[in-house]
Amino acid sequence: MKIAAYNFGEQVEEICLADSGGPGLGSVRQSLSVFLLVIALEGKLAKQTGKRRMDSGRYGFASDNTAAICPEAWAALQEANAKSAPSYGEDCWTARVSDRIREIFETDCDVYFVFNGTAANALSLAQLCQSFHSIICHEYSHLQTDECGAPEFLTKGSKLLLVGGASGKIDIAQAETVVARQNELHSQEPRVVSIAQATEFGTIYAGNEIAAIAEFARAREMFFHLDGARFANAIASLNCAPKAITWEIGVDVLCFGGTKNGTAAGELVIFFNKEISREFGYRLKQAGQLGSKIRFLAAPWLGLLTNGVWLKNAQHANGAARRLADRLQNEAKIDIVFPVEANSVFVRMNEPSVRDLHARGWHFYKFIEPDVHRLMCSWSTTDREISDFIADIVASNH
Ligand SMILES: Cc1ncc(COP(=O)(O)O)c(C=O)c1O
Repeated sequence: MKIAAYNFGEQVEEICLADSGGPGLGSVRQSLSVFLLVIALEGKLAKQTGKRRMDSGRYGFASDNTAAICPEAWAALQEANAKSAPSYGEDCWTARVSDRIREIFETDCDVYFVFNGTAANALSLAQLCQSFHSIICHEYSHLQTDECGAPEFLTKGSKLLLVGGASGKIDIAQAETVVARQNELHSQEPRVVSIAQATEFGTIYAGNEIAAIAEFARAREMFFHLDGARFANAIASLNCAPKAITWEIGVDVLCFGGTKNGTAAGELVIFFNKEISREFGYRLKQAGQLGSKIRFLAAPWLGLLTNGVWLKNAQHANGAARRLADRLQNEAKIDIVFPVEANSVFVRMNEPSVRDLHARGWHFYKFIEPDVHRLMCSWSTTDREISDFIADIVASNH
């Protein structure tokens, strides 16, 4: 039996259902005709009013995770799919990605694959901490707000010590106060400082700011962990050598994100201090993070790391965010909340405008109460999307 499916309010297309052939098929056909009529009329109405349905799904600014796989990563994936290959990381793609990382960072380092950023952060922290340790991080860090307690769980109880600071960056004076407040044996011992680069608010630590945090860590014999889910955006923004904001100034571990840069999945955990990566492979396997067909995580990474695609993608995303922010400010008179230094734009927007934009199909999220919303750009953001969004926001500006 064929029935019609409604597609984004614009066309009616046919799909097949198994033919039941049983009694009552006539009435099913009748109700289907009514259904068809309703959706055809609805489609016509949507076209006439120019209103899009909620499910028309304009996800362009909702997250950099909503982007597709970039063409270079996709091509590399296809190439890896041509024939069989060794499993569990014994393949040539895994080896080549690790070699490329050592070239790009200009140092010998240990490279591991995990499926996502939460695993990268939590398992690398577990490698650095005992249960009686603590981790200094920003109060708005992904570790604290978005990882469902994975760092605490996988470290078997290490505590997150939260520190404030403007624009998502750790304030060292506050970090010092927090450490000073720890009561020797009676508190968990501060063991790691973790920052995100770019931060969760789309800001970037300058080289000297990272160096100051590294110094803070070194002075207290703490490790320095860097959540680089958007590390590519940070490098594109600072236009510096990757080593300049990592191992050269004292970062011990970097979680390097590929997902937001153009792969489907798969982040890298990079240990610059090879003494601390000992047996990390066992930790990954036990946590279910050793991919048997790991070449399908590695190959897209090779696509990113060849011919500077990772930087091109990040530059594109950052540039789109800059243009979006400028147009929001100039044409829609919208307040931009944090400096736009990577690929996110945080805006202050009133509830009626937000509701109206959602009704026009735009997906995006509130990040800070009562009215701060996040708009993300990615490697695939187009100027057309930006113009469409600006046009709708101007129209909806209550
Ligand atoms: C700063 C930061 N770290 C890590 C992650 C990775 O999270 P996930 O586990 O969803 O890949 C994200 C994703 O949004 C992030 O924004």
